[in-house]
Amino acid sequence: MAISVDFQAFVDEVIEKNDIVDIVSQYTKLKRVGNRYQGLCPLHHDKNTPSFSVSADKQLFHCFGCGAGGTVIQFVMAKENLDYTDALNLLAERARVPIPDRRTPSERDAQLKLQEKKEKIYKMNSLAGKFFYENLMSPQYKFALDYFKNRQLSEDTIRHFGLGYAPDSWTSLIDRLKSEGYTENEIFEAGLSVKRDNGTYFDKFRDRVMFPIIDLRGNVVAFGGRILTDKENSPKYLNSPDTPVYNKSQTLFAMNFAKNSSTNGILLMEGYMDVISLHQAGFTNAVASCGTAFTEQQARVIKKYTDKVILCYDSDEAGQKATYRASDILKTAEIKARVLTITSGKDPDDFIKKEGKDRFQILIDNAENIISYKIRKLRENYNLDNPDDKVEFVEKTAHIFSEMKNSVEQEIFVKKIADEFSISPDSIFAQIRNLEYKTKTKENSRLISNQQREINTKNQHITNPEKLKVFNAEKLLLNLLCDKVVFDRVSPTLNPEDFSTDLHKNLAEIIYNTHKKGEKINPTAIVSSFSPELMGRVSEILADDKNVDDRLRAAAMPYKIIKESLNSKTISDKSDESMLEYFKKLKEEKQ
Ligand code: CTP
Ligand code: MN
Repeated sequence: MAISVDFQAFVDEVIEKNDIVDIVSQYTKLKRVGNRYQGLCPLHHDKNTPSFSVSADKQLFHCFGCGAGGTVIQFVMAKENLDYTDALNLLAERARVPIPDRRTPSERDAQLKLQEKKEKIYKMNSLAGKFFYENLMSPQYKFALDYFKNRQLSEDTIRHFGLGYAPDSWTSLIDRLKSEGYTENEIFEAGLSVKRDNGTYFDKFRDRVMFPIIDLRGNVVAFGGRILTDKENSPKYLNSPDTPVYNKSQTLFAMNFAKNSSTNGILLMEGYMDVISLHQAGFTNAVASCGTAFTEQQARVIKKYTDKVILCYDSDEAGQKATYRASDILKTAEIKARVLTITSGKDPDDFIKKEGKDRFQILIDNAENIISYKIRKLRENYNLDNPDDKVEFVEKTAHIFSEMKNSVEQEIFVKKIADEFSISPDSIFAQIRNLEYKTKTKENSRLISNQQREINTKNQHITNPEKLKVFNAEKLLLNLLCDKVVFDRVSPTLNPEDFSTDLHKNLAEIIYNTHKKGEKINPTAIVSSFSPELMGRVSEILADDKNVDDRLRAAAMPYKIIKESLNSKTISDKSDESMLEYFKKLKEEKQ
C-alpha cells in the first residue's frame, strides 16, 4: 500500500513533537554522555551495564544488548506492546496532533453501518430491560418480585440493578419489540430471541428473573436470566450470546458501578447474586464475570482502575480451583491479588445474610496473600507428623515460595510458615535455592544462545577480523556520510555498491539519493523505511555521533580501509596514496 504524503507528514509531526529523550525517560533513567544519552535498557532486563543509547539530535534509540532500535514510535511499540498504528495514535494524542482519518470510503461506510446496528441493539436491550422491570413490578407476576424479596433484596436494590422478570410466554418480548418497529431478525441479532429450524423465532428468556448486564458507559448490553425454582433438566442461568455490543469475556457484571466506588480495589466474586447482595450491603466494589471463568481481558479492564483485587469465590472445591486460575491471570496483568475465605455458608451472598456486613468487612481485612492461601490449602493434604509427608510438603512449599519475586517478602513468609508448621526455615530456603539453581541454569543456557544469535546477526556472521574491520569502517563512514561535506568528498570515488553488506549498500543508497536530491538527511525517516528487524542496526549506525568535531577528518580512516579492501579485491587499481594525506590535502585546498 502506498503511503500518502499527508500520512507521512502526520508521522513526521508525531515524531517531532514527542521528544524521544522525554519519552524514554519515563521508563528508564538516562544519563547524558557527550551528545547522547545512555541508561539501562527498559526493553530487556538490563541489570547493570547501560547498553541503551538515545540520540537527541537524531531522535533515535538503540540497544546493544537486545538489538532493538528505531524512532520513538518503535520504542513505544516495544515498551507498551502496541502495534504500529496504536503506538502512533498514542503518541499523537499525547502531543495533541490531530489523527487523520485513513479509512477508505467503503471502510467508512461499513463502520457507519455497524455503528447504526449497535445503536439499534442498545435500544432494543434497553426496551427489553424496561419490559422485564415492568413485569416484575406488575401484580400479575407478584411471585417473581417475591422471589427477590425472599432473597432479601430491597426495592431500591432491585431498581438500582434494573432487575426484572421475563414472562412464561413464547413471544411476549418479540411482540413488544416488533410493536416498537424492530424486525424479527434485528431482535434475533440482539440475542433476545432464538431461531427455529423453520425460520420462526421465540423469546430466549422465558419464566426467568432477569439481570441486565451493563457496560462501562451505562448501556444495557446483555442479560442473565435465572430460573425461579431449580429444575434438573433446565440450566439455572441462561445468558445472552455475544453480539456486536457484547463480548462476555471482556465484560464484568456491575463494573459500571464498581468503577465509581470510593473503595480502592475490586472484590471479584462468582455470581450475580453475590455481587448484588454485596452492593446492597455497601460493598460497591464487587463484580463478577458473566457466566464464564475469569479472563485476561477482564483483568485488563480492572487494571485500568486499580491494581488490587480480592478474590471472593465460593468456598467449595470449584471455587478454590477458580481462585488459583484467577490469581495466575491477575499476576500476569500485574494486579495484586488477595484471597478472602468465606468462613460460613457457601458464598458471599450466603455469608452476608447469615453474618452481616461488619463480619464481611473483617473477612476483607483478613484476606490472605495468595502464597499463604496456597500453602494453607497444600497443608490440608498432609499429615505433618509423618516424616515422609513433611519432606514432600517442604518440597512443594518451595515451589510456591519461588513464585515470589521480592526476596525480603519471601524471607518473611518462609519464616512465618516455618514457624507455623515447626519446620526449620533453612530447610525451606535450601529447597528454594535448589529450585532456583535449576531454573537459572536453564535460563542461562537460553540467554547465552540468544546472545550468540544476536552477535551473529549483528555482525552478519563476520568472524574474519579483516572483514570485521571493513564492516566497522563502513558503519562509521555511513554515519559520517549523513554530513553533506563528507558526502561531497567521498561520493565521487565511492559508490553505494562498494559497501560489503546488503544493509550497508541499501543505507548508502538512501543517503546518497537524499543528498543528490538536495534534501536534508532525516534519520528517523530513514530508520522507519527499514523492516523492524533491521531498525535496531540502522539506528545504531545513524544515531552514534562518535563525538567528532571534524567529521571530514574522521572519515579519512574508514574511507581508506574500505578503499583498500576494494583494491585488494579488484587488483586493477592504482595504489592509493594514504587517504589521510588525501583528506588533509583536500582540507588544505579548501582553506
Ligand atoms: N452460571 C451460568 N450458568 C449456569 C450456572 C451458573 O452462567 N447454569 C454463572 C452465573 O453467572 C452465576 C455464576 O455462574 O451467577 C455463579 O453460579 P452459582 O454460584 O450457581 O449462582 P449464584 O449467582 O450464586 O446464584 P444463586 O445464589 O441464585 O444460586
Ligand atoms: Mn453462588
